[in-house]
Amino acid sequence: MQRRDFITCAGLGTAAAMLPGAAEAARRTAVAMRPAPGRFPEGFWWGAATASYQVEGAAAEDGRKPSVWDTFSHTPGRTKNGDTGDVACDHYHRYEDDVKLLADLGVKHYRFSIAWPRIVPDGRGAVNEKGVDFYKRLVDTLLKHDITPHATLLHWDSPLALEDRYGSWRSREMAKDFADYVTATVNRLGDRIQYWMTINEIMCFTILGYGVGGVPQHAPGTVVKTRKEVQQTIHHALLAHGMAVQAIRAASPTRCNVSLVENLDSCVPVIETPEHIEATKKAFVGEERNGTMLVTALTGKHNPQAWAKLGADAPDVQPGDLDIIGQPLDSLGINLYTGNYVRAADNKQGYEVLPMRESYPKANMPWLNIVPDSIYWAVRLIGDAVGRPDLPVYISENGCASEDVLSPSGEVFDTDRVMYLRSYLRQLQRAAAEGYPVKGYFQWSLMDNFEWSCGYTKRFGITYVDYKTQRRIPKLSYRWYQQVIRENRVL
Ligand code: BG6
Repeated sequence: MQRRDFITCAGLGTAAAMLPGAAEAARRTAVAMRPAPGRFPEGFWWGAATASYQVEGAAAEDGRKPSVWDTFSHTPGRTKNGDTGDVACDHYHRYEDDVKLLADLGVKHYRFSIAWPRIVPDGRGAVNEKGVDFYKRLVDTLLKHDITPHATLLHWDSPLALEDRYGSWRSREMAKDFADYVTATVNRLGDRIQYWMTINEIMCFTILGYGVGGVPQHAPGTVVKTRKEVQQTIHHALLAHGMAVQAIRAASPTRCNVSLVENLDSCVPVIETPEHIEATKKAFVGEERNGTMLVTALTGKHNPQAWAKLGADAPDVQPGDLDIIGQPLDSLGINLYTGNYVRAADNKQGYEVLPMRESYPKANMPWLNIVPDSIYWAVRLIGDAVGRPDLPVYISENGCASEDVLSPSGEVFDTDRVMYLRSYLRQLQRAAAEGYPVKGYFQWSLMDNFEWSCGYTKRFGITYVDYKTQRRIPKLSYRWYQQVIRENRVL
């Protein structure tokens, strides 16, 4: 399966979590607070994002023990050119310069992730204070530059020790160990961090980490016998998310903002008419990934038709699990790169997902079809289809890979990335202008980094990294984004 294949399944109506009258009132207030034409709302969060294993390096330093990605990337054949995150961008040692890059860019928000194997190297048990100290240093430097830290507690690099102990996400114990690590982290960093994200993109370490009939693309890279086993890893990850929400709220010394980050399947009506929009709403919640992960976390219920489709492959769910999974959130982080076109259809589910043609415009990644409207629809459908118009959302990742090279003058003219970002941001501005509760935008990524199984062959940064010297060179897109932030509008 490709990195972001759309998984189709039967559609269903929405899981309304709000009374229609209240939803309408919330929308009227939002419309009254619309930004000035062409602009983003006052106080809009402009940000940039990275993740621990992709940038930090220092894999064996200050007590960090291996994550599943260390072993996976060190296994021959798993990543392009056998690349690993051993050194990555050496951010562990260069974080001060990297914060300076953020400050010069003008962002007031930075999303990074905390490496579980730095804080609790064995996955459970003793806390490694030296690992905590790194994040204290990083966060203090951010705060010194007036940049708000947004910390993701798991961006795929779970401790290898738990893989050896019980097969990571195959075991329910993983959720409990994750919650304990979260408690330890928030106890130590909660005085400095108020914005927490539990888990980044559940599908990328479950569906892509456990393969039926072949080695999957991502760590831990475990081959399993049945689809049910894969579904069980998803259930345990959702449970871990819910338990982490409870753990954060219990441990945080101050009021905090808790989110889940999902790379939902964004559906776009192929023609913006009422019938295709209706069909798109059905597809958004009825499609398997959204229906069994996003909808479950936001409403505490599985989408019944998506669930029914799993049949005998549905995971075992214990009484009370759904209440834990559906813990109230303060906001939702949406990682948004691409989308799918949907049209109304005279079939049982009432929609059809259109195939993407070979000639469809793409960024420099096989799965990355350029679908700018997908960002507008993702924001809108959280309210219109999932039934959560009350829930503030922000874009926690958006960006693209491009074939970046240094020009003879030492610059990077990534005009394709500027085009991509500009087109998507125009659509995000449309969502804000129409009153949808979109709070911010984190560009992915501040700098080129270890791109998982693609190693260092793909570059998503707005800053070029020369991996031989670790020199950072702001690209044209960095200059463009800097100006957008300054003027609070798309340029
Ligand atoms: C996001 C991940 O899904 O996509 C990032 O959160 C990742 O970590 C980005 O770098 C780019 O996609 P890919 O396919 O290269 O992982």
